[in-house]
Amino acid sequence: MPTVALTRHGDVAVASLDNPPVNALSAALRADLLQALAQAMADADVVALVIAAKGRAFIAGADISEFGKPPAPPILPDLLAAIENAPKPVVAAIEGVALGGGLEVALACHGRVASQAAKLGLPEIKLGLIPGAGGTQRLPRLIGAAAAFPMMLSGEPIPAQKALALGLVDKLVESDAVGAAIALAQELAGKGAPTRTGERSDKLTPAEQEAFEALAKDALAKSGEMPNVAALVEAVRAALTLPLAEGLATERALFVKLLGDERSKALRYVFFAEREAAKVPGIDESVKPRPIARAAVIGAGTMGGGIAMCFANAGIPVTLIETTQEQIDKGHARVRDTYGFSVKRGSMTEAVREQRMALITPAVGLAAAAEADIVIEAAFEEMGVKREIFGALDTIAKPGAILASNTSYLDVTEIAAVTSRPADVLGLHFFSPANVMKLLEIVRPAGVAEDVVATAIGLGRKLGKVPVVVGNCFGFVGNRMLEARTRAAERLLVAGALPHEVDAALTGFGFKMGPFAMSDLAGNDISWRSRKARGKSAAVADAICERGWFGQKTGRGYYRYPEGARAGERDPEVEALIAEVSASKGVTRRSFTAEEILARLLDPMVNEGARILDEGIATRAGDIDTVWLNGYNWPAWRGGPMHWAESVGLGTIVKRLEQQAAESGDVSLEPAPLLRKLAAEGKGFSATKAT
Ligand code: 3HC
Repeated sequence: MPTVALTRHGDVAVASLDNPPVNALSAALRADLLQALAQAMADADVVALVIAAKGRAFIAGADISEFGKPPAPPILPDLLAAIENAPKPVVAAIEGVALGGGLEVALACHGRVASQAAKLGLPEIKLGLIPGAGGTQRLPRLIGAAAAFPMMLSGEPIPAQKALALGLVDKLVESDAVGAAIALAQELAGKGAPTRTGERSDKLTPAEQEAFEALAKDALAKSGEMPNVAALVEAVRAALTLPLAEGLATERALFVKLLGDERSKALRYVFFAEREAAKVPGIDESVKPRPIARAAVIGAGTMGGGIAMCFANAGIPVTLIETTQEQIDKGHARVRDTYGFSVKRGSMTEAVREQRMALITPAVGLAAAAEADIVIEAAFEEMGVKREIFGALDTIAKPGAILASNTSYLDVTEIAAVTSRPADVLGLHFFSPANVMKLLEIVRPAGVAEDVVATAIGLGRKLGKVPVVVGNCFGFVGNRMLEARTRAAERLLVAGALPHEVDAALTGFGFKMGPFAMSDLAGNDISWRSRKARGKSAAVADAICERGWFGQKTGRGYYRYPEGARAGERDPEVEALIAEVSASKGVTRRSFTAEEILARLLDPMVNEGARILDEGIATRAGDIDTVWLNGYNWPAWRGGPMHWAESVGLGTIVKRLEQQAAESGDVSLEPAPLLRKLAAEGKGFSATKAT
């Protein structure tokens, strides 16, 4: 099947790209487009060519799935050189998104028309790359480096209106971009030889260079672990200082080097893992989601309020419910204040805040949930409370309404069982702050209806979340693995490490916070209560809580927080307490390197992940990584815990776990059978049966 259809509209040829779903520039598309270009240029009756596209995207960029394979000719830079150097004008008709290589195609054209809804961007930075087909050279020539550099640095696409203002597109139309592009192509053909972006130098001014250097300095200072920011700076600098051919060669060399970088590979793995997570066994397009016109959220605490904001942000009316007027007033005011921060920062106008607030109806009493198509309970984390609420909801909610619990740990099947409609009940686990964090764990208990799961997935996307469907077990995927890490952190303290050493190892790895700083922030009493409810103990953590050192809110936890400071200081009393615990257990304390600490924190998580995979709680290793990347701030360039484990080597992880299990006598550290099996076979997690 050819991916490009060449048609004639008077004396203009139109090459219409058709490579579903998003017209990625696969080898076949590149070859077909080059052929269409040659054909149009050779046809004496054709004065110009329009490049248009079928489907929801103009072109979504290079085909990311081809990265890592030997490049098949024609490579993109060669195709774009042929377009730019064509003897007759070539005009891009951009409807939908023009991203990465897709925008680079448009930049190589001699004119660009966009529809109002189009979006244009160079998102390569998010994949650990830089534009690799002339974007870093042609965009600064077209719109100036001071505007081009931030676009490439953020990777965020810009709306067509802004593209017009920047001179990135020549014309904006309500509809029929192809018709307008044909008209522009004819106009350009009448003017003789086309203007080539690569030959322009009017924007390569000292003022642009100066503005760019200031932006570059700032960007480099903030670039952290990613090598592509420095590469981007170097490429744009080449655009400003070197002839086009040399600039293109510089860009290409940098791009190819980044393709082989492990951090960049991890980001590409994440791109596909997140998309694969959307594919859920048993839920295909034949399962029709239920309509969601109105929602209700029970509990107006920080979590409930954040969830209500998610609905309001997506334009869905929501009733926020509490048990007393005083509590709902407080919760409602907190939502208003949270929006207030955005208004203060300038990321939201007062008018938008009012629009969002108007979508949130405060109410007292569960009866207010009667009209909702979905009810999300975000009340106290205790089974008795959940049972009571779901029992009442069963009599109040309308038939067909979805009843969801935001529980972080509890058994959703048990919650569903108190209703007469367990097929309508599932878990929707948001992460705090719910209006910010991207992850939505959709907990699928055994008896839930398929269309309820499909509705939850669709709703999650509508709320701007990354939904991951998981099985029902204690803590589901994320918190079950977090618990493994928490136990590991406690073991490290008893064995000889100190809180700041453990935290530093994790922040050095790329996390924003270590486990103890995090626990102090969340409140150490939360996990203490949970441990007590389950008859579990953790000697150091319990001793700290017994002293009322609950964390930041009490001014003391694993660290001291003088006068409400947010950054903790080492606390000699805590350190003495830890030493006492070690002594009481007969442990001779020893020091640990950051590398040892990391292995001891992360290997048990991977072990738990392997069990989760084996039990079918997660469908694939990529789902587990998606959970950790979007719910727990695992550094994206490390690809998630399962990807990280593969990069370390599963055999190494097995050996380290065996050693830890032998040392500690803790059987939970014995390598999971799946982990052992894959390591013995020299395979990765992608070889598991569930994938
Ligand atoms: N290459 C290969 N596959 C791609 C792709 C690409 N550039 N972009 C999207 N896809 C695939 C997805 O994997 C998904 O496949 P699946 O259905 O089998 O899971 C399918 O297209 C649809 O993608 P989404 O689910 O993301 O669809 P949306 O409608 O939500 O979003 C989109 C569409 C905005 C185009 C989004 O997919 C996107 O942002 N794509 C990536 C864009 C990008 O990063 N481009 C730069 C590529 S690098 C490059 O061009 C280098 C160059 O400079 C040389």
